[in-house]
Formats: sequence, structure tokens, C-alpha cells
Amino acid sequence: MCGIVGYVGPQDALDVVLEGLRRLEYRGYDSAGVAVRIGDGASGELASAKKAGKLANLEKLLADSPLPASTIGIGHTRWATHGGPTDRNAHPHLSADGRVAVIHNGIIENFAALRTECERRGVEFASDTDTEVTAHLLAVAYDELPAGPDRFAEAMRVVCRRLEGAFTLVATHADEPDTLVAARRNSPLVVGIGETADGTAEYFLGSDVAAFIAHTREARELGQDQVVEIDRTRGLSVTDFSGAPAEPTAYTVDWDAAAAEKGGYDWFMLKEIAEQPRAVADTLLGRLGENGQLVLDEVRLSDQDLRDIDKVFVVACGTAYHAGLIAKYAIEHWTRIPVEVEVASEFRYRDPVLDRSTLVVVISQSGETMDTLMALRHAKDQKARVLAICNANGSTIPRESDAVLYTHAGPEVAVASTKGFLTQVVACYLVGLFLAQVRGIKYEDEVAAIVEDLRGLPDQVAQVLEQMEPVRALGRSLADSNTILFLGRHVAFPVALEGALKLKELAYIHAEGFAAGELKHGPIALIDEGTPVVVVVPSPRSRESVHGKVVSNIQEVRARGARTIVIAEEGDEDVVPYADHIIRVPRTPTLLAPVVTTVPLQVLACEIADTRGYDVDQPRNLAKSVTVE
Ligand code: F6R
Repeated sequence: MCGIVGYVGPQDALDVVLEGLRRLEYRGYDSAGVAVRIGDGASGELASAKKAGKLANLEKLLADSPLPASTIGIGHTRWATHGGPTDRNAHPHLSADGRVAVIHNGIIENFAALRTECERRGVEFASDTDTEVTAHLLAVAYDELPAGPDRFAEAMRVVCRRLEGAFTLVATHADEPDTLVAARRNSPLVVGIGETADGTAEYFLGSDVAAFIAHTREARELGQDQVVEIDRTRGLSVTDFSGAPAEPTAYTVDWDAAAAEKGGYDWFMLKEIAEQPRAVADTLLGRLGENGQLVLDEVRLSDQDLRDIDKVFVVACGTAYHAGLIAKYAIEHWTRIPVEVEVASEFRYRDPVLDRSTLVVVISQSGETMDTLMALRHAKDQKARVLAICNANGSTIPRESDAVLYTHAGPEVAVASTKGFLTQVVACYLVGLFLAQVRGIKYEDEVAAIVEDLRGLPDQVAQVLEQMEPVRALGRSLADSNTILFLGRHVAFPVALEGALKLKELAYIHAEGFAAGELKHGPIALIDEGTPVVVVVPSPRSRESVHGKVVSNIQEVRARGARTIVIAEEGDEDVVPYADHIIRVPRTPTLLAPVVTTVPLQVLACEIADTRGYDVDQPRNLAKSVTVE
């Protein structure tokens, strides 16, 4: 949700910033803009350019009207909150005197009062955004401070102390030839530290490390309510909002620029779907010990803490929430601890019953989703233990949790989550099995066998991927559909929800997922002659004949004219008479089946969206990381 880049170093700043924006565009694509500081000596000028729409529009503008060369610059790609997606509202925003340029991610909740204050001083606003006040306030604060090396950072601290809400701010000043300042509260910001071939130091700011991964993997994680200054000669310095020095956490990014490239695929989403066997394998790596035992080093809760747990909440948004729904089936079955699953945006507002013996598992690919972060904080306020399942090292959610289990999916660039989801599901299994192991196990043999079955998942996902050509052909034939329904029971129900979400967000087709048994209680009325219905069928070995019931559900919808698309295990012949199309998946234990059955639904949605001519990686109205509530 808004991508932010800043650069100070010997290279051409505009080149570095634009390259960073290309890698961050998945965070928002309503508009893009850049500002550079030009001129020799202490007093220079700012030059900026901004354009509504995708980054390509800005690049075209810059090709027609280039900005002067500079070695210090900032750039922004926007997901609109305050003010429509227009040129006028695109960032950067400049102060009235044109000496300060600011880019922002988040929402400044008290902007209206601050705007009135600025207007009373005679400032005329040039946009409808909440951001612009910060540029005016920063210019005033800077002018009121005495000259000195800390002046710009102190001005930023003065402003931040007045702001409410969530913000990452990065600013450049015409009088500061060597320095950028930035601040963060509840929104992401990381620093990159690099060196050019001739040994000259260079510094980067980014919403995430993708912004500078082509230049350095050395990153610094900032804490909450911190101001950072990057200076050509003085390097990096971090303080809190009151000016007390703070130490950022150093880490090395464990992937490189190639991991964030399309690698020959038409879409990032296709590449990320194809990476899933590797992503699942990496998430399991080092965690499956001998004799069916699990090794989870990053869980910083003691065995006694885990034994004391009497209730689990799983809290997440969107696709991650669907992973949480699958977790419920697995964790309850293996541990016999009650599990509730809830969308993060609802969780804290209904005052859930939490205490020291509650484990709250928050799931977030980005580690920055504001709804999930707020739910986490609420859980901690209530003294619950919080375990994060997260993909992004250095992000806020794992930093604020008591324990973290990283999924090792690698960077996910496509807005629609694929490998992020599969690895979240696998991480949920690991949490469930680990809890079972620590607390004593009811189904001891079954749990030991499942640990072994997990080892087979990467190959099974690879087998599914080898058979996707007919699924793509099927997708092309469904591209004109008005509605597609998805049905599943047991763990296949969340898979149906996930299939419907993928289709909605990518192909803009009305899609709904239902628990197959609920259909007859109303939604079956939606079925008309030819309505495509995708049914995710549980294994014939699933408990209490769920399989048989779903086969009956297929017959019910077919009898009413549905075109049935059935995802079924190899060897399941019961579905054959009722399926217009069958997509086969390998035999997998019931609780693990979502890892294989989800994959064809991802491919189907991607192909339908592509056939309809949509941008698969950047669907309309969406952004990858939702950092506002
Ligand atoms: C859908 C999708 C979103 C995210 C949701 C949570 O394809 O990607 O629904 O799953 O916004 O994001 P994270 O996992 O980053 O918290």
C-alpha cells in the first residue's frame, strides 16, 4: 500500500529511484512521482514529476521532460486513500515555498486540524491529500530551527510528534545536499546500506527491501516511532521521536534481485505459482526432525507456555484468513485445543475473550497488514501470547509478536497471493503438529505419519503443476462466465473460498465459495443452465463419508443444469459420472490436501483473467500490502 524509495549516493538518483519503484509498484499503482534535489552547495532546488496511473505514465513523462541529474532523490507509487487517483494528488507533495518534498504511506488521522492551521497561516493547498500538511509543517519546523547537522532530522521529529495515525514519511530539502530524512509509525520502512564498485557508500530507504535489492542485501530494520537520517558522509543515524538515539536491527536479505524478476514468465503470478514446490520445501526445511519430531527454533515460547494454552485464535485477512480456516481443522484435530478463526478487521472490535492461556496465531505474508497488526496489539494488551506466521523478514508483525515462524516463500510480487498462501498453510500444520508434540498427542501414530507426509508435499505440488495445460484450456473456455461457484466440505471449504477470492480479484467475475452442505439451504437457487460450479472433493479416505456427501452435492447441482468442474484425487472414480471436467490431484492425507487442491484454482483464475485481457499482477483497486485499517 504505497511504495516508497529514497536514495543518497554517487549514482544517478532518478535511475535508482525509478528502478526501486518498478519493484514496488505492486504496493499501489494509482499514481507515481519522484523528486530530486539539484544544485551544488548548500542552497539548491527541488525538481519533481508526478503522474496519475501506472509507473509507465510517469516514465513517459520523464522521457518527454527529463529532470536534471542528481544524486539524492525520492520516489512514490500510490494506493489512493485521501483524494482521488489524480495527478494533483500524486506524491511527492511540496511545501508552499517549494523547498521541501515529502512522500507518505499511511493515513494521518488529524490532518484536518493541521490543514486548518496551515490555511490560517495563508498556505494554499495544492492537493486533497492528508499528506500535504506534512510538507508545509516540515518547511516551517526547519526554518524555525538553528542551522546545524541535525536540523533536518530534528524538523522531522518536531512534525512527527504532532501527527496521529499511521505514516512512513520520507523528505528531501533543497538546502540539504547530502541528507534525506524519514520516519515511521505503524507503516513499514527499511534502510539499505550499500557500496558502489569504487567503494563509495550509498544509502537507500524503502517500504520493503525490494526497493534496493538490486544494489544491496544489507538492511536495517527500524522500530516503531523512529526517525532515520541517511547522509552521504555521516551515514545512518536513528532516533526516536524525542531525539534519543536508537539502534536499528541489522539483517541480510536472503534472496537476491533475480528472485524478484519475472524470470521469463508472462506474469509474476505464474512464476510464483511455479515456485510453490520450492517454497513449500523451504518452509519445511530444517523443521522436520528425526522420528517424526518437529524442530521449530524460532518459536520463542517455552514448552510450559505452550502446555498452558487452552484456546487458540487464528487471526488474518483475505487469503491468509483462508489459511487460518484450514489451520482450525488441523490444529483442533491434532491437539484437541479449541480454535477460533477470525478476520483481523473484526477481531478487536468485538472484544474477544483472551487471557494468558490464549495463543493468538496471526498470519500475514507481508507482515505489515494494518488490520492484522492492530489485532496483534489488542491480543498482547489482553496478555495473550502471539505467534506470527509471516513471510517478510524485518516487517512489523513478527517484530511485535512473542514468537515467529517464517514461511520461506521468497518475495511475492503479484498482488494475488499464491506461494504465500501455500506456505502459510504448511506453517499452520507445523504449528499444530508442534503444539501436539509439546502437549502430548491423542492420535500419536497419525501425527508421526503426518510429519512424514509433509515431506512429500513439494513433489505433490510439482505433480499438480505438470498437469495444468488442460486447466488453462478450461480457464479460457470459462472466460465469458458471469458467475462461478466453488464448493467444498471440511478442509476443502476454505479451498473453495480461496478459489472464489482468486477469481474475483483477478478476473472481476462474480464468484462465491460455499460449504457444499450449505448449498441446499439457499445458494442452490443461483444455479442456472450452464452455471460453472467448481467442486473440491475430499479424499475417499476422509472421515465420516464426507466424500460421499460431496459426490451427492455434485449430483444435486448437475441436476439443476450446472457445468461441473471437479477437483478430485487420482483414482477417485465415484466422481466420474457427474463431472463435466475432472482435474486430478495426487493422493494426499485429508488435512494436507489443500496444499495440492488450491493450485489448480490459482491457475484457473490466472488464465481466466489473462484471457479477459486484465493485468494479472496488478488487479484494479488492489494493493499488495494493506497498511491502512
Ligand atoms: C489475496 C491476497 C490478500 C491478502 C491479504 C492479507 O490474494 O493476497 O487477500 O492475503 O491482504 O495480506 P497479508 O498476508 O500480507 O497480511
